[in-house]
Amino acid sequence: MCGIVGYAGTSPALLVLLQGLERLEYRGYDSAGVALIENGKLYVEKKVGKIRELIRSLWGKELKATTGIGHTRWATHGEVCELNAHPHVDSKGEFAVVHNGIIENYRELKEELQRKSIEYKTQTDTETIAHLISLNYEGDLLKAVLKAIKKLKGAYAFAVITMKEPNRAVAVRYGSPLVVGIGKGENFIASDIPALLPFTKDVIPLNDGEVVDLRPDGFFIYDFEGNLLTKEIMHVPWDTLSAEKGGFKHFMLKEIFEQPRTLGDTIRGYISRSYDIPINLRDFRRVLVVACGTSYHAGLVGKYWIERYAKIPVELVYASELRYSDSPIGDGDLIIAISQSGETADTRFASFAMKEKGAMLLSIVNVIGSALDRESDYSLYTHAGPEIGVAATKTFTAQLAVLYALAVSHSEERENLMENLLKVPHLVEEVLSEAEKVKEIALKYAEFKNAIYLGRYLSYPVALEGALKLKEISYIHAEGYPAGEMKHGPIALIDERMPVIAIAPTDRVYEKILSNIEEVLARKGKVIGVGFRKDQKLKDLCQDILEVPQIEENLTPFLTIIPLQLFAYYIADYLGLDVDQPRNLAKTVTVE
Ligand code: G6P
Repeated sequence: MCGIVGYAGTSPALLVLLQGLERLEYRGYDSAGVALIENGKLYVEKKVGKIRELIRSLWGKELKATTGIGHTRWATHGEVCELNAHPHVDSKGEFAVVHNGIIENYRELKEELQRKSIEYKTQTDTETIAHLISLNYEGDLLKAVLKAIKKLKGAYAFAVITMKEPNRAVAVRYGSPLVVGIGKGENFIASDIPALLPFTKDVIPLNDGEVVDLRPDGFFIYDFEGNLLTKEIMHVPWDTLSAEKGGFKHFMLKEIFEQPRTLGDTIRGYISRSYDIPINLRDFRRVLVVACGTSYHAGLVGKYWIERYAKIPVELVYASELRYSDSPIGDGDLIIAISQSGETADTRFASFAMKEKGAMLLSIVNVIGSALDRESDYSLYTHAGPEIGVAATKTFTAQLAVLYALAVSHSEERENLMENLLKVPHLVEEVLSEAEKVKEIALKYAEFKNAIYLGRYLSYPVALEGALKLKEISYIHAEGYPAGEMKHGPIALIDERMPVIAIAPTDRVYEKILSNIEEVLARKGKVIGVGFRKDQKLKDLCQDILEVPQIEENLTPFLTIIPLQLFAYYIADYLGLDVDQPRNLAKTVTVE
């Protein structure tokens, strides 16, 4: 977790660092800081809270430094306070380090360094890196870093500067993401591409085990043994504008409204005949879908599609549960890893471990060039553009589109099935045109403390995702359940203070879920139905109704999730909460 940015150039570094950090805030936002080489000395400023607090404290200070590093934190080791915020410096105050990830052996290293009378000022694992580099420094920052990393265990990325070499920054990638940005007379590093977009679109994503030596007039990339590497430059097509709010109050709302376009882009990519899905699911014994959070919910929808069209058994596993399991996986198995960022540590490490056991690894990612993308045998891209809101919306529906295309790719009915998919963007637009109605209903439920989301078959993952959206951004306790399971426990929770959101399109399980709704009503629960527009039966049963246009059974998740995204958004906004950066969360979680 956490976001790192670094600059070596000829312009004021501070502006670059702050702009970059603002674009990395989705990676964590409990504190932030910068370190600069100002007039030959190390200048460090850090603040608890968001980047704007840091900007406020730097206001009016004329800092002209042209080399610097910055950090936005999501605490792992040590409470959230100014002292534990990054950058961290060595005992002499000559080296400053910003770090993302975890140094797993930091306790042993700390004891070892303390025996050498090194004094620790913070509770972080990061401070160890600063001390180690300082101890190994003999006039060359790169060499000191190469020596220091030999001692480190864990998954991390960090960047370091020193007042002893004012025009240089060195950064390392080992398990956490890091991208080099290439400019003219200036070069950059950042945890993710969006932080670089205002300055350059020419980037090199580093691989694990690589170190970059950044200077104003060039950069050099080495392996951990110090061998110089030749790397290819990637030109990023995303424009800066697509990472702006474009008139919407929040990125999340903008991204919800972008879905007709993003879905259109994704679907068109997979419909064009030139696009060939590189594998045939039917060549595998079974499929294991590995993911976290929203991506997991998309995978669950994909399971139903793959089992239906490719007729291959599919298992869904939370990535964090798979990595240390004894699951017998090997030759003949296909791992489908789903991740918006392509950097989620749980997903990457679990999938890679299964690849090492002999399974084939296919990833579905949004970020081209991300670690997962590069570690996979094959990748399918969601093409949804950068998603800034921490709560995933447009990437969820884009993941659905890719999973559907994959599931039907070798079916005899492929052409018809893909034709059907073409109707989706327009129908999503219709749902969005009724956003105001969703808002009206949502506000009636904003003061409730709990909610249950129910769905069956393809609507079960939608229930899980709807509940996740609500809890993530409104902090209302919400649970998604398979509607049929309600009677085995959760029904005990139902009373007049428990709103139940029942996702009930007219599909193969429609009558069954209507019975579940009756069970809720019999216990005085309030039911908000999500169903097809002309469904009078559902309307008569429910207190409120979130309508979507009619669509065939298989494609219902594309439509039913939209009012649920809006429902969560309007409640969180009404409650005055920070929709784009909810407390305790981060968009990309690069720790296990
Ligand atoms: C974090 C985010 C979630 C996201 C999950 C998986 O927890 O807050 O919104 O669904 O990571 O992220 P990925 O990038 O792997 O899809």
